[in-house]
Amino acid sequence: MYEQVSHALLNDILDELRPDLKREDLRHFYTRLGANFYAIHSLFSHLYGQREDFFAQMTALVDRLARAYIDRPAELERIDMEREEDHNWFLSQEHVGMALYCDGFAGDLKGVESHLPYLSELGINMVHVLPILACPEGASDGGYAVKDFRDIDERFGTLDDLRGLAESMRKRGMLLTLDVIVNHTSDEHLWAARAKAGYPDFQDFYYLFDSRDMPDMFEETMPEIFPETSPGSFTWDPTLEKWVMTVFNGYQWDLNYTNPRVLMEMVDIILFWANQGADIIRLDAVAFLWKKLGTTCQNEREAHLILQLMKDCCQVVAPGVLFIAEAIVAPLEVIKYFGEDAVVAKECEIAYNATFMALLWNSIATKSAELLDQGIKSLPNKLDRATWLNYARCHDDIGLGFDDTDIRAIGADPRAHRHFLIDWFIGKFEGSPARGRPFGVNEKTGDARISGSLASLVGLESAIETGESDAIDLAISRVLLLHGMIMSFGGIPLLYYGDEIGTLNDYSFLEEELKAGDTRWLHRPRIDWEKAERRREHGSVEQRIFDGLKRMISVRKTIPAFADFNNRELLEVENPHLFAFLRTHPQLSADAVLVVANFDLKPSYLDLSSLKHRGLFHFGQPYDVCSGETPGVFNDRLVVPPCRFYWLTDQRPVAVF
Ligand code: GLC
Ligand code: GLC
Repeated sequence: MYEQVSHALLNDILDELRPDLKREDLRHFYTRLGANFYAIHSLFSHLYGQREDFFAQMTALVDRLARAYIDRPAELERIDMEREEDHNWFLSQEHVGMALYCDGFAGDLKGVESHLPYLSELGINMVHVLPILACPEGASDGGYAVKDFRDIDERFGTLDDLRGLAESMRKRGMLLTLDVIVNHTSDEHLWAARAKAGYPDFQDFYYLFDSRDMPDMFEETMPEIFPETSPGSFTWDPTLEKWVMTVFNGYQWDLNYTNPRVLMEMVDIILFWANQGADIIRLDAVAFLWKKLGTTCQNEREAHLILQLMKDCCQVVAPGVLFIAEAIVAPLEVIKYFGEDAVVAKECEIAYNATFMALLWNSIATKSAELLDQGIKSLPNKLDRATWLNYARCHDDIGLGFDDTDIRAIGADPRAHRHFLIDWFIGKFEGSPARGRPFGVNEKTGDARISGSLASLVGLESAIETGESDAIDLAISRVLLLHGMIMSFGGIPLLYYGDEIGTLNDYSFLEEELKAGDTRWLHRPRIDWEKAERRREHGSVEQRIFDGLKRMISVRKTIPAFADFNNRELLEVENPHLFAFLRTHPQLSADAVLVVANFDLKPSYLDLSSLKHRGLFHFGQPYDVCSGETPGVFNDRLVVPPCRFYWLTDQRPVAVF
């Protein structure tokens, strides 16, 4: 957009920059900067316009963008241009991701590189390598307390190893996702060290308070994130003799985004990792970026403005790079992290679909799809050119974050219902086969979340112990059922490492002092590669899960209706155990797929007669493209076996009209 005030300012800024940037070919940079500068300027002045040094700060930002652009390798710029041409590329059904800890998966970055064939065998073509940046020796919240944002932790390898991995992945057509932890640093970060040493400029990077007045006021409305291990949101620092804002763990210092230098450093860090070859940057804990007294300090409007600014800057330097918003917040809030519009005020292209994840687990415990149906109905449609990251498990706990209104709408009491779910997943509820553990128990509010590996939560651990083959079969069906949902819902499915071979809870964390208080370590496994080898033994648990997922992934990639164009329609079905939706490709309506899942332990039937007016299944027998089976139908009623799902199409070949 052209607008005189910002354009005149841009000219002034470029005049300031020119002398030392003159030699460079900045054509593409200038066109993109020109296109985005109105937005960058408006956002920057909204956040920092009242400062006397505003012009200097604005100039410094543009200078950093220009330098990051010059550093961008030619190969990555070529990919940027390719993606500009094909800007919907990431909505395709061909992407399937996996999140993994590099040490847990394969020791270090080189190990990950040498195990890429394993991931390719499964069909994975997007890998989120969980945090690998330099961290303190001791507790570091699984890598989320960073000491140096531009260096790889030596336990995992070197920057060269990372570049090598990125290159090997590019050759295989795999996307690399890396974290940038934007909300906080470790208390051992250089900025924190300088703050402790008394430099006011660096003290201004954080929120520091001399007395308890402000902290007490804040804590009245701020929820506790880790109530058991790190109650409250502030930590006393004996060196500074001040209270530091620490929303997560006491050693994770929240960054102060009212200071433009913090924003600039973070933009620079994002661009640094983009230039090392990350295709996608996962922005951690984005809901927390702006703090305001009297609020929960989550989802504030300024947090969105900061993300818009980060996106606008990234588009100038590395337009092919996508952002994932990690905002595990209420359904109506999470949708806002895509931005207000796909072009203007855009934020992150991808967001974790925590609502769907939690609802799926609810269906496992209740054997019913009622709340799932209700919850998905209340989930607003997202923007075009935005997509979900659909997952069943990840490195974090499962929060029961669905809406109370939805729980009431199905006739349940929110408190009692959540209580039941916790009991079910920790195996306390009579008959539950689950082996989870509570996480984040808050005695004051009665809230709790759940930890545990996917396989242990669906009952595989207890089934193997008792050796009952029916129970093992049921657990495997549930593993596949959950994945069948995240692969067909619309968005990028994100598997979690180990789940592809049914990895059980790992209790070894209980022996490690620094981990014992955080049950999330239960499901951050070290892959047992001998166990993984059993995927080749016909009939083994590993083979049944691995091959089931492998097939699902390869079928998903061939179904254009599974691409994400907001092309999902929930279907009203009378049977409360069934969850059903229709996926239709906007241009290829003949290729519609009806997804139906039965969460019950008994077979359930779906009445097909109501779907006939939709032109579905006119010509014959529905066919399950996933298993290749033809499900049983009797008088228009199709039977879905216990804990199974179908991806149904008309059996007639697509080409016949
Ligand atoms: C994110 C991470 C989580 C971490 C938290 C604090 O939510 O996923 O593992 O504890 O941020 O950085
Ligand atoms: C909370 C936060 C989320 C974090 C998680 C870690 O849910 O909202 O960002 O990952 O806690 O347990």
